[in-house]
Amino acid sequence: MVNEINNNLLKYYIETWGCQMNEEDSEKLSGMLKRIGYTRTEDKNEAGIILFNTCCVRENAENKVFGNLGQLKKLKEKNPDLIIGICGCMMQQEGMADKILKQFPYVNIIFGTHNAYKFPEYLNRVKTEGVQIKEIFNKEEEIVEGLPIDRQSDVKAFVTIMYGCNNFCTYCIVPFVRGRERSRKPEDIINEIKDLVSKGYKEVTLLGQNVNSYGKGLENEVSFAELLRMINEIDGLERVRFMTSHPKDLNEDVIKAIKECGKLCEQIHLPVQSGSDRILKKMNRHYTREYYMSLVNKIKQEIPDVSITTDIIVGFPGETEEDFLDTLNLVKEVQYDSAFTFIYSRRNNTPADMMLNQVSEEDKHDRFNRLVEAVNNSVISKNKAYDGKVVEVLVEGTSKNDETKLSGRTRNGRLVNFSAEGVNIGDIVNVKITKAQNFSLVGEAIK
Ligand code: 5AD
Ligand code: SF4
Repeated sequence: MVNEINNNLLKYYIETWGCQMNEEDSEKLSGMLKRIGYTRTEDKNEAGIILFNTCCVRENAENKVFGNLGQLKKLKEKNPDLIIGICGCMMQQEGMADKILKQFPYVNIIFGTHNAYKFPEYLNRVKTEGVQIKEIFNKEEEIVEGLPIDRQSDVKAFVTIMYGCNNFCTYCIVPFVRGRERSRKPEDIINEIKDLVSKGYKEVTLLGQNVNSYGKGLENEVSFAELLRMINEIDGLERVRFMTSHPKDLNEDVIKAIKECGKLCEQIHLPVQSGSDRILKKMNRHYTREYYMSLVNKIKQEIPDVSITTDIIVGFPGETEEDFLDTLNLVKEVQYDSAFTFIYSRRNNTPADMMLNQVSEEDKHDRFNRLVEAVNNSVISKNKAYDGKVVEVLVEGTSKNDETKLSGRTRNGRLVNFSAEGVNIGDIVNVKITKAQNFSLVGEAIK
């Protein structure tokens, strides 16, 4: 029994909530643990270290963390040597770490988004000194480069190009927990991508809360469009995607770069949040519906076969049925290829939380259901248009539901499951679509 527990000390389990940036952070946390000799497990029961990387953008993400923490009590009783760590955005909120320690005193390590690179040091202290660690930095520090990364895929990788956000949308907690915008140096980004390519990677997704304001404040300022053109020159790299673009900052240079650079994929994530000018103003989004639509039309005009995706919130304080109908109409007008839909969630200390006229839960849910229906109609009709077409697919692995099939994505981001012979993971193949399903495509590779 003792032996078994000691062996388990070598294994770690990481659970990640939230956005791609959190996923990338977890890849770094995992990379650091692997470097010091631990191995990953997907089974909490056999782990010696359990780490939760949390999200606080909506209340339900937080509730899931609390629920999961409660369940760890039994594991800790069975194995008192188990080390439990919590990190990520939720920890950056005032008072949250203390609340967690009070409710779940068996937690060993708490750290935030700005000091994740110190995790191995904290772990070592817990193991050698037996202390409980709570360390959260309030201010962002210099970007730490060169951390090891344990990536989820061998074909495509996330590359964070900037951290933080300066926008302060009134509903959003991100600027408070991720700090102000800081951009990585272009040479660090390029070197990371070249290194990925040398390891066989074919696709990168550049990440940032607002990638279009990349480069501000660097010693030698570089615009996002310039960065894209530099990345496009990297030999051996096949595809480049990026997210997220704030509509107010996505400019013509970026649209032109996508049009002109062969590696930049025809896909733009352009969160609209609301279709009502009144609500957009209250959200502090700095654009109107008319401006957004003109941007969408320009993108569609300039980039053939482009897919446009978005984020939408229903039930922002003061949203009337009329405001909501504006959002619904906008969804029909844009014809999104995919959309993340959210029910507004009150976040402590954000301006929207203090606004009067909070929308009732009943109205929020009713609007949410109607929105999802409109989004699905648009997604399905866009997908159906691919029936019989030939698309270029980067092979990412085997299909989730059918191991005899391969799976990958089109340049504009559509999931394709297909049959093929003599094709390897990482190849780019032409696939004829034989069946356009509602949310994915089925096809056969053609020579
Ligand atoms: N409530 C609901 N959705 C939110 N988002 C951000 N903050 C909130 C909130 N308080 C959504 C936005 C953003 C996405 C990442 O999460 O749509 O684009
Ligand atoms: Fe939040 Fe707005 Fe920044 Fe996006 S742009 S992270 S929604 S504050």
